[in-house]
This record gives sequence, structure tokens and C-alpha cells, in this order.
Amino acid sequence: MNPFSSATLAHIAKAHGTPLWAYDAATIQRQIAALRQFDVVRFAQKANSNTHILRLMRAQGVLVDAVSLGEVERALAAGYQPGLHQGHYEIVFTADLLDRATLARVVELGIPVNCGSADMLDQLGAAHPGHPVWLRINPGFGHGHSNKTNTGGEHSKHGIWHAELPQALAKVRANGLQLLGLHMHIGSGVDYAHLQEVCGAMEALVATVKAQGMDLSAISAGGGLSIPYQAGEPQIDTVHYFSCWDAARQRIAASLGHPVTLELEPGRYLVAESGVLVSEVRASKDVGSNHFVLVDAGFSDLMRPSMYGAFHGISVITAAGEASTAPVKDTVVAGPLCESGDVFTQGEGGVVQTRALPAAQVGDLLVFHDAGAYGASMSSNYNTRPLIAEVLVEDSQVRVIRRKQTVAELLALEAL
Ligand code: LLP
Repeated sequence: MNPFSSATLAHIAKAHGTPLWAYDAATIQRQIAALRQFDVVRFAQKANSNTHILRLMRAQGVLVDAVSLGEVERALAAGYQPGLHQGHYEIVFTADLLDRATLARVVELGIPVNCGSADMLDQLGAAHPGHPVWLRINPGFGHGHSNKTNTGGEHSKHGIWHAELPQALAKVRANGLQLLGLHMHIGSGVDYAHLQEVCGAMEALVATVKAQGMDLSAISAGGGLSIPYQAGEPQIDTVHYFSCWDAARQRIAASLGHPVTLELEPGRYLVAESGVLVSEVRASKDVGSNHFVLVDAGFSDLMRPSMYGAFHGISVITAAGEASTAPVKDTVVAGPLCESGDVFTQGEGGVVQTRALPAAQVGDLLVFHDAGAYGASMSSNYNTRPLIAEVLVEDSQVRVIRRKQTVAELLALEAL
């Protein structure tokens, strides 16, 4: 979806230039509200780690996950505290390895580590006996909108293999670590056809913890909740999703004999629909039978179509600031990069596709929908293109929350 009117986006583009990211605060708040039943909603900030978005999350009671030293520092910069908030750690660090600098920092701050490899348990134990940990388990199956976002099963590098849980628990004990909970994230853009199987896997894993004479206080369902990118794709039924997990949590609590916290770790669900990428058409041409429209944003900005063949809805706004009513034309939408794969309309495997769009003219705006998750956060400087600006719209106020990078800033890194 696109939460903005054509007039609003035309106004923002005029004031701040293109290409640019625009986010709608009310959409984020609406998505948070839909998950209120969970004890803890922990934002997977990799989806959108702008500190102003993180501040908005924190003000709504959303806790945060970090997957790098940089994301830990972002969480702190946004006001998240390293310690407990109403009984829950505000920041959790999730990874499959600990580089030395990050290990030192999480130990210094006492930030719990969600461990996806057993070696992490030895390294944490050596650095800081008693450190709080989660165990991220690969249950042996997964799902995702693309093979690249399926994080369960033998092909995935993520998590401790389910059959290795007893050995991991032995390491937790041997290293004197504090086990907080078990975590499972089976993929991103999951259809959850096998939700019962996922919850059942968690119950079986907790039974293993109990059988080893150990205990835990929390379980995490991970993230993965999808949003409808294309017309006809369903909205996830969060009430049903919660009730399956809540039932599993209640059985787990009954078996352990005490309450157990239920965490969720969404990224996309909270931010995808809030954001758009606004670009300007700078050229158009016919290449054989294909009609190309070339815009000033590339996969260095929005990588998802090139990386996964991901679909983003596109709308066309005229230079006058109105939704285009031009006759529809089959169009290939491409960017400025020196790569044939710099195409926004493509399927998985890089097959160029056409999209039926109102015929776009140079000077029109092309708006890519549902780009608030894994948009700006996956951008790069390829072709020496500076990172573009981000604006947040809140109560009709437009606020720049990241200015555009400059070429001088890129070159400064090499001025040695
Ligand atoms: N928790 C863990 C441990 C994760 O690895 C991820 C995503 C999430 C939570 C949040 O997943 P979400 O709720 O956003 O689906 N770049 C890809 C998505 C990769 C996700 C990586 N991990 C994309 O653009 O679709």
C-alpha cells in the first residue's frame, strides 16, 4: 500500500528532491497496535534502523533486536537502555557468531545474546560467566517469500540445529550462563501454513530443556509475518497467529510450573506498509518490443526486486501532483545503475517483466509502495551513489529524519 496522497508526495518531492524515502508514522502505530496481545514485541531493526523510527517504536512500548555492533549503538542512540524494562531486557543481540568487538560491547553493557551457534556460548562464558542468553534453534524446517529468506532446515546457516539442543544446554550449564529463553525464526515472508507445526516444535524443544533439569522464562516466535505486497495477497490474521502461540505458551507454562513470557520479533510487519520510495522519471525509451521508463532510484536504493524478484506496487504521479490518468502501457521500470539487473519489474531469477502502468513522462514521479522494510536499510553506495534522504510524516508534519549523504563524505573515507 501507499499511505500518502499524490499531492503530499508531490509536495515532499518538490521540497526535498528525489529519490527519497517517506514513512507514515500512523501506519507504524496501527501495525504495532495489531500485535498488542503479545507480552513483548521486539522490533527486528534490520528492517528499518533509522534512529527516529526506533524512537517512535520505543515510545509505543516496542523493545528492540540488534544484529550487529552498529545496530546495538543505534538502539542506544534512540534511547533504549541496556538493562531491564518491566522485567524484560530492552535490547537483545541476535547472531550466529560474535566478532571480538561486539562480544566486548555486549558483555560491557550486559545485553543478552540470542545465540545461533554453540561456539558463542563458550566465548560468552569465557568473557563473562553468568551472561544472559537465549538459544536460537533451527527446528529443521522453514519457509520464506524467497529461498534467500527461508531460515530453517539443513541449507540454512542460522540457529542451533534442533538435535544439538542438549549439547548447547550442556554448554550453557558448563559456562555458568543464564538461560532466558528459546527462540525460533523460521524465515521472512512466511505463509504460516504450518503454524501448528512451528508451535509444536517449540513445545518439544522446551521439553528437552526441562528433561535436562533446566528452566527458562520466555519463548520467542521470531519474526516473519508477511504483508500483502500485491492485490489479492491476504493480510495476516494476527488474532489467530497469537492464539496458536498463546496456547503453546500456556502448555509450556503449565509444564514448567510458572508463567512464561511470549515474545514476537517482527520487522517487515511493523514498517513495510508505512514507507514508499519516491523517484522521478528521467528518461523513457523503446528497446525492441519493450518500453522502458528510467527513474533516478536504483537497486542501490531499493534492492528487493533485484535480490529476490520481489514485487512492489508502483503508482505514477504527474508533474502537476495528481495521480496519473494517462492510458495504461506495458512498462519495464529501471534505474540508473550500470547493471542490466537494475530493474524494478522483475521476477525471481532476474527475468525482466512488464507492468501495466499509466504511460509515464519525464518529470512524473514513480512511487514504489511497501518499501518501509528492507528498503533504506539494505541500500548501498554502489556506483558511488550517496544514500538518499528519509522523511517521516507525523500529524501532517514532514520531518527529515536522515539527510542525503554527499559524495564528499564518501570520498573523505579515502582521504588518508
Ligand atoms: N528475527 C530474526 C532472527 C531475523 O533474522 C529476521 C529477519 C527477523 C526477526 C524479522 O523478519 P521479518 O519479520 O521482517 O520477516 N531482506 C529480506 C528479509 C530478510 C530478513 C532477515 N531476517 C527482504 O527484504 O524480504
